[in-house]
Amino acid sequence: MTFTNDQNRFLKEWMNFLKIPSVSADPAYKKDVDSAADWVKSALSQAGCPHTEIIKTPGHPIVYGEYLINPSLPTVLVYGHYDVQPPDPIDLWDSPPFEPVIKTTELHPEGAVFARGACDDKGQVFMHIKALEVMLSKGPLAYNIKFMIEGEEEVGSDHLEDFVKNNKKKLMCDVILISDTGMISKTQPSITTGLRGLSYMEVTITGPNRDLHSGLYGGSVANPINVLCEMVAQLKDDNQRITISGFYDEVEELSQEVRNEMAKAPFNENEFKASIGVNAVHGEKGYSNEERRTIRPSLDVNGIWGGYTGEGAKTVIASKAHAKISMRLVPNQDCEEITLLFKAHFESIAPDGVNVKVTPHHGGQGYVTPIDTVGYKAAAMAYQDTFGTAPIPQRGGGSIPIVALFEKELKSKTILMGFGLDSDAIHSPNEHFGLFNYYKGIETIPLFYKYFTALQS
Ligand code: BES
Ligand code: MN
Ligand code: MN
Repeated sequence: MTFTNDQNRFLKEWMNFLKIPSVSADPAYKKDVDSAADWVKSALSQAGCPHTEIIKTPGHPIVYGEYLINPSLPTVLVYGHYDVQPPDPIDLWDSPPFEPVIKTTELHPEGAVFARGACDDKGQVFMHIKALEVMLSKGPLAYNIKFMIEGEEEVGSDHLEDFVKNNKKKLMCDVILISDTGMISKTQPSITTGLRGLSYMEVTITGPNRDLHSGLYGGSVANPINVLCEMVAQLKDDNQRITISGFYDEVEELSQEVRNEMAKAPFNENEFKASIGVNAVHGEKGYSNEERRTIRPSLDVNGIWGGYTGEGAKTVIASKAHAKISMRLVPNQDCEEITLLFKAHFESIAPDGVNVKVTPHHGGQGYVTPIDTVGYKAAAMAYQDTFGTAPIPQRGGGSIPIVALFEKELKSKTILMGFGLDSDAIHSPNEHFGLFNYYKGIETIPLFYKYFTALQS
């Protein structure tokens, strides 16, 4: 490691960043989100970035920075997000979500920092800021760097979209570099070559005009909660295929050859099951576990509520039932199209006696990146150097909706150089990020710039 003397400071600074509860979804945290943006801006200047600014949006601010050396040199645009998911359910955290602590785990004997955002994405954003500091300590840059760190990724990047569309010249670059994904393991790096799209819906079933006594009316009216459960159950068939008509029409079917290549990535089903405490895997017939969570679409209920959920028993038929339902999409499914298909289908399966309302939330398109590009090769060489092993290209299951828009508007490919692990518990209680992963990131990122510049010229 080339920054041994700075290791402790890099760790402390990162932990200070994690103390700011930058929860984008909850208006109660608005001030904290703003101060996280200010914090990122000053961290960038302290690392040596000569131009930094806060760009206000109708939502949360964007932090922008640039270090422009010479327009004839390659330009890398670093994207990430300083906002985090809500910490709930707080009771399930072993230590408070915004009071970062270092603890050791079986996987991280050298320690991991536990806090909301430790990995997703404050830790990984901060690696890039510290990598800049490390690069500058070695001499002048041989490339231009732009930073765009937003505060609304976890809520759909609504305002970033406009900013990108209106600032194409400012954001012009040869490649976009993002650390907001994971890798296979600490000994087997991988580069994420695809992200799934997303279509997220909220549904409300309304039956009778008021909550009813379930004795006086039970058996004679359609109960919205029963109906919702029946409707949700119909969304998949016995083979766990989604039943929405037209849903699979545009799904990219990969050749057996490509699938065989993907299947070479190490995966242990028993470890997978043990890691999440289930005794069986589950999913679409005809596809492996890893295929199901990357190259195949999925549909999940993310929340469902209605009726009486308090202490004891209340004999009631609720007037309304609600659910949040999301679908992960794969290339070439269009999220808007899928939203329309879902709405039409869900309304069509409702029985008489209830009303169905379907409201779309945010969505986003999926993304795939080829591996025969300068950017991919540079990333692969960087991992090879620091891990001593060639990284495996791997499609990811999560979503970063703005990436497809970057490609469309900026005409640049994105390299997803993630350093997280599935076990980091992002979005869950006890989120953490290994010190090994954090330092490896800071060590690997400068090599990306080095190889990208060398291969470019
Ligand atoms: N960093 C994640 C996405 C991710 C994680 C992709 C790991 C691949 C591997 C990102 O912050 C995220 O959580 N995205 C949301 C989408 C957004 C619209 C709320 C997601 O995937 O649910
Ligand atoms: Mn993220
Ligand atoms: Mn996230």
